[in-house]
Amino acid sequence: MIVRLLKIYFSVRMGNQRYGEAPTVMPPTIYFCCLEVRMSTATTDFGRRLTVPLVAAPMTGVSGPELVVSACRNGVIGSFPTHNARDVAELDTWLSGMRRDLADAPAAPIAPNLVVHRTNARLHEDTACLVEHGIELVITSVGSPTPVLETLHASGCQVYADVATLAQARKAADAGVDGLVLLSAGAGGQTGAANPFAFVRAVREFFAGTVVLAGGVSDGVALLAARVLGADLAYMGTPFIATRESLASQEYRSAVVEASMDDVRLSDQVGGLPASLLAQWLEGREAGPVSAGDFQQERLVADPSVWSAGHGVTSIREVVAVDELVARVRREYDEALIGLSALGAG
Ligand SMILES: Cc1cc2nc3c(=O)[nH]c(=O)nc-3n(C[C@H](O)[C@H](O)[C@H](O)COP(=O)(O)O)c2cc1C
Repeated sequence: MIVRLLKIYFSVRMGNQRYGEAPTVMPPTIYFCCLEVRMSTATTDFGRRLTVPLVAAPMTGVSGPELVVSACRNGVIGSFPTHNARDVAELDTWLSGMRRDLADAPAAPIAPNLVVHRTNARLHEDTACLVEHGIELVITSVGSPTPVLETLHASGCQVYADVATLAQARKAADAGVDGLVLLSAGAGGQTGAANPFAFVRAVREFFAGTVVLAGGVSDGVALLAARVLGADLAYMGTPFIATRESLASQEYRSAVVEASMDDVRLSDQVGGLPASLLAQWLEGREAGPVSAGDFQQERLVADPSVWSAGHGVTSIREVVAVDELVARVRREYDEALIGLSALGAG
């Protein structure tokens, strides 16, 4: 009994320290957790500034400066697609404001998301703007990161690429990215189809950089499970839609609160790529003139009012502030860690 209590005590201490910090003591329970929950060198660089191993995922029409600043202040990497800013001038204003707001206290990195598809006419302008602002981490999506990799690396910026298949993961790894975001089945927005268990384990066979699991991580329990699986970080998108700081409309936030995973439909009718959309939004809408695989950046930006949500939508019960959401996830993560330790104690 005493041994068990000691294990729980030390586990709580580990759960409460800043993510990436080496524990001062290494009791067996912590060692047990660290064995599977290893961190890549790349993540560790800013790991000390995270309170929980989480990225507030980039979301079209949802993530803006307020959400990003609040996430970063709470020790969560704050991401947003650069195209949420109307043009590069607005992107510049956003980044200046966010950096100013975060300057006076320790904060997690801002991680802008660049759509690297050939139809993104702003790609190089936006990239130059990120370099000018000394951004530490960029996440690329919808295509190969190669066009921006050299420029970003030369400026000291780390690059993570989102991928939905093993072939894409291998290509991005060969190109030299620092991290891979694995879009697994049931993720919000443009989703992957792979089972997350199989995907993380398969990627870990050949990739030693940072692995971020995306899809259905809506609480601290799922977050810890992602780490046990071999991911360093997890994306959390859908729960951040229903925050006070999100750019989503009141109707969209309410729909997210009311929906369950049974309301999530897989459709390529919006952007030409398979995406998770809410049935309430799809109902009565004509299929667009989009053929499968025909992604175009202009179309994505043209309609930011799409109601998308992933399978993790079920656990969202109310609209909360980002502070509250992160505090809840951290608490659940700590409690799950105790549960994991107890499991190890047999
Ligand atoms: C409304 C919405 C918009 C999104 N827009 C983008 C985007 O612009 N760029 C991107 O890389 N991913 C985008 N995503 C995907 C998220 O970054 C992330 O992969 C996903 O939300 C993770 O799954 P989860 O929602 O189950 O947490 C979007 C997701 C949602 C729900």
